[in-house]
Amino acid sequence: MTFHPNMPYDTGLHKSERRLPEQGEPFAFTPENRARLEEIARRYPPERRRSALLPALYLVQRQQGYISGHAMEHVAEEIGVTPAEVEDVVSYYAMFYSQPVGKYVLQVCRTLSCALNGAERVTEALSAKLGIKPGETDPTGMFTLMEVECLGACDRAPVVMVNDHWHECLKPGDAAKLVDDLRAKGPDAVSGCHLCVEKK
Ligand code: FES
Repeated sequence: MTFHPNMPYDTGLHKSERRLPEQGEPFAFTPENRARLEEIARRYPPERRRSALLPALYLVQRQQGYISGHAMEHVAEEIGVTPAEVEDVVSYYAMFYSQPVGKYVLQVCRTLSCALNGAERVTEALSAKLGIKPGETDPTGMFTLMEVECLGACDRAPVVMVNDHWHECLKPGDAAKLVDDLRAKGPDAVSGCHLCVEKK
């Protein structure tokens, strides 16, 4: 008699869903970004240098557009952790991209307030305009479309994050225009956070 369940170990089971990061081109910080990293790392005791990991990853993403396998190895060396620990962090946070993305990353919030105010139709309108599905980049390499969870501006739903900036109260009918405006005006097309705009 055995207490072990009878497990069918065939090829369809026990598969790892882990995707290895794209290795990309060899990576090193620019002198400016290295200096910036050192400035950030000095805020922590030397034995806590790993606390600068998140800012280091933001620096990589600003420099390269995404965080490749080579960049993870470089950060690991700079920070004093293992590449696996860096990959853990990159794969955990939605704001880090481990594959190349477009110049503008359009992240449509799909959580309750935005969903009730038409976020799904915003996504559909952006998909139709760009000819891509969420998770894809358009053939020009200019736009990547994503659906994300709450962006923290629920009273301004539906909200789309364009790179690091909010675009608030985006009606489905205006979604295609946002794409045209980004092409024409660049980041000036984004409304930003109303609280920051009101402070000016
Ligand atoms: S539900 Fe969309 S920003 Fe909070």
